[in-house]
Amino acid sequence: MYHHYLLLCLSLGTLVKYAAGNEWCYHGCEKSPDHWRDLPGSFCGGQRQSPINIATSHVQIDPNLLNFTFINFSSQHAFKTIVNNGHTVKLTLKENEVEVSGGGLNGTYSTIQFHFHWGDTEHHPGSEHMIDWDRYPMEMHIVSLKKGLNVEEATAESEGIAVLGFFINATEDDLSEPWRNLASYLTNVKDTEMTINHSISLDDLIGDVDRTKFYRYMGSLTTPSCNEAVVWTVFHEPISVPKSLIQQFPAKTEFANVYRPPQDLKDREVFASPGTPLSGPWCYDEHHCSYNPSQWGSLPHSHCSGEHQSPINIETQNVVMDEHLDALTFTKFDDKHAIKYITNTGHSVKCVLKEDMVEVSGGGLGHVYSTLQFHFHWGLQDSDGSEHTVDSKRYPMEIHIVSKRKDLPLDEAIRTSNGLAVLGFFIEAADSTKSSSSSSSSEHEVTNPTSSPTSDTGAWKKMTSYLSAIQNISSEVEFKGDFSIDDLLGNVNRAAYYRYNGSLTTPLCNEAVVWTVFKESIKVDQNLIMLFPTQAGYQKAFRATQPLHSRTVYSTMSAATAPGPIILFLLLGCLCASLFSLCL
Ligand SMILES: *[C@@H]1O[C@H](CO)[C@@H](O)[C@H](O)[C@H]1NC(C)=O
Ligand SMILES: *[C@@H]1O[C@H](CO)[C@@H](O)[C@H](O)[C@H]1NC(C)=O
Ligand SMILES: *[C@@H]1O[C@H](CO)[C@@H](O)[C@H](O)[C@H]1NC(C)=O
Ligand SMILES: *[C@@H]1O[C@H](CO)[C@@H](O)[C@H](O)[C@H]1NC(C)=O
Ligand SMILES: *[C@@H]1O[C@H](CO)[C@@H](O)[C@H](O)[C@H]1NC(C)=O
Ligand SMILES: *[C@@H]1O[C@H](CO)[C@@H](O)[C@H](O)[C@H]1NC(C)=O
Ligand SMILES: [Zn+2]
Ligand SMILES: [Zn+2]
Repeated sequence: MYHHYLLLCLSLGTLVKYAAGNEWCYHGCEKSPDHWRDLPGSFCGGQRQSPINIATSHVQIDPNLLNFTFINFSSQHAFKTIVNNGHTVKLTLKENEVEVSGGGLNGTYSTIQFHFHWGDTEHHPGSEHMIDWDRYPMEMHIVSLKKGLNVEEATAESEGIAVLGFFINATEDDLSEPWRNLASYLTNVKDTEMTINHSISLDDLIGDVDRTKFYRYMGSLTTPSCNEAVVWTVFHEPISVPKSLIQQFPAKTEFANVYRPPQDLKDREVFASPGTPLSGPWCYDEHHCSYNPSQWGSLPHSHCSGEHQSPINIETQNVVMDEHLDALTFTKFDDKHAIKYITNTGHSVKCVLKEDMVEVSGGGLGHVYSTLQFHFHWGLQDSDGSEHTVDSKRYPMEIHIVSKRKDLPLDEAIRTSNGLAVLGFFIEAADSTKSSSSSSSSEHEVTNPTSSPTSDTGAWKKMTSYLSAIQNISSEVEFKGDFSIDDLLGNVNRAAYYRYNGSLTTPLCNEAVVWTVFKESIKVDQNLIMLFPTQAGYQKAFRATQPLHSRTVYSTMSAATAPGPIILFLLLGCLCASLFSLCL
C-alpha cells in the first residue's frame, strides 16, 4: 500500500491510476488540497509542508549558500519525453546525464524530471510559492534525486530530493524560441508520452535568471503523498515567458489552477543566498532602519505608494451619510478563550486569535469576516499615537481588530479590495479632559464627555499585565483566558462609525481593507496606556495619515443627535432608518 503511494507521488500520476475514491485533485473532486492529509499513507498534514509564502522580511542570509554547479544544463539532447498526466505537464530527462550540486546542497543530485504549475487563461496566477504574498503566473520545478538513491530511497530521506523552483513571469514580447518549441508539445491527450524532437536545454528555458540569488528551506513534495524529503531552492528572479505561451498551458491541457495553496511555515526558517535582495527591516522611525516610512514604497512588492492608503484624517465635514451602514454583528467577541497568544512583533503588540472562531458581519460589509488578530498603535510616552485622526485630532492609542473574508484564503484576501475588514477603535485616557476639545464640527462628535472608563478596567489591567512577559521582540506568551474582546471594548458605542476603503497600515500596505473606524473612543486608565510604549520597548508605533485622493468616507446616520446612552442612540438609529427624511 505504502509503496504504491510512493510511486503515485513521484511519477505524479503517470504510472499508477488509483481507485477513483482516492484520486486527488486541485479542485472539483472530493480529495482537494484540504483533504490530501486524509489520503492513505499521506504526509500532507505534516510539519514541513510545501509550498510556502516567503516573507522576505523574515528571511536570514546564509553565507554557506554559494554558487550552484549545473552539469549538462546546457545539453540540448537531455530531454527524453513529455506527458500530460492530468495534474501537470512533465518532461523526463535521460538518466544520469544532468546533475546539480553546490548551492549549499549536501552532495550531488541527479535530475530526473521537471514540470509546471499554472493558473488559468483569465490571468489568474498559478505559481506554488509566493514571495511576500505575490503569486507569479507559473512555476517550474526541476526535480533531482540524491545521487545513488532510487526514488523510493530518496523519498525516505530528509534531503533525498532537491527541487529547484523557478518563477515564470509574463512578458508582452513574443521572442522565445525554446519556450515556443516546448509549448508546441502541450496537449489535452492524457497519459501518453511523446518524444521530444527539438533541441532544447534547461539553460535555454532558464535564460538569464541570476542563479546566485535564491531562497532555501526544508519542505515536501507539493503533491500527495507530500513526502517531507525535499530540500527546496526557490530562485528570486523569474524566468520571463511570453504571455501568449503561458496561456497555452491551461488552454491546451484543458486544466487550470494546478497549484497547492501555501502551507504553514511552523518552526522552519527560510534562508537566502548572499546578495538576494531582501526587504529588510522596516520601521516607523525616520532614521534607524533600512526602510523608514518614506521608503516603504520601495520595498519589493510594496503597495505603500498606492492611492488608497491608510490611515487617513477623517474630515467630519466631508463624510457622507450612508443609510446602509447598519449594525455590525459580532460573533464570539464575548468568548474568553478566543485569544491564542500575545506577541511583541517589534512594531506592535498583537493578540492572535484561534482560527475560525470569532467573526464580524453586517454593517454594510456584505460578507462574513473571520477575525484573525487585534493589535495596538501608540505614540511617544507623552504624545498621542492613534493612526487615524478625526478633524486632525489624534487620540492616544488605537486598537485594530483584523478580519479576513471567510470565503477566501488569506493569500487571495490580501489581493482582493474587500478581502480584509479592520475595525479601529480610538483609545483615550479615562481621566482625560481632551475628549471635549475644541473640535470644529461637534455635530458629528459622539465622544462620551464623561470621564468614567467605558471599558472593563479589570480587563485592561489583565491585558497590560502580559506586556512585561513579551519585552523581547518576537517573544510570545500563551493567553490564560482571562478576558474577552468585549471586555476590552466595554460599552463603547458600536453603532456609530466611519467607513472607507483603504489599506494595511504596515508594509506591504496591501489595498485590501474595508475600514470601520468607530466614533466613540474607549476610555482606559492613563497609567495602563503608558505601559504600551514603556514595556514594548519602542515608541511611536503608528503610520502618518495618507492622502484621501478620490475616496469618500461614509458615516452611519444620525450620529449628530445621539446624546450618549446607547439605547436612545439605537432608538434614534431605527427612527432614522424608517423616517429618513425627518432626520434631515
Ligand atoms: C558565483 O557566480 C557569479 C556569477 O555566475 C560569479 O560572479 C561569482 O564570482 C561566483 N562566486 C563564486 C564564489 O564562485
Ligand atoms: C553530460 O552529457 C554527456 C552527453 O551529452 C555525457 O557524456 C556526460 O557523461 C554528462 N556528464 C555528466 C557529468 O553526467
Ligand atoms: C550529508 O549527507 C551525508 C550522506 O547522505 C550525511 O551523512 C551527512 O550527515 C550530511 N551532512 C549534512 C550536513 O547534512
Ligand atoms: C513581471 O512582469 C510584470 C509585467 O510584465 C512586470 O511589471 C514585473 O516587473 C515583472 N516582475 C519581475 C519580478 O520581473
Ligand atoms: C529576553 O532576552 C534575554 C536575552 O536573550 C533573556 O535573558 C531574557 O530572559 C528574555 N526575557 C524574557 C521575558 O523572555
Ligand atoms: C469600496 O470599493 C468598492 C469597489 O471599488 C465600492 O463598491 C464600495 O462602494 C467602496 N466602499 C467605500 C466605503 O468607499
Ligand atoms: Zn511541482
Ligand atoms: Zn494596525
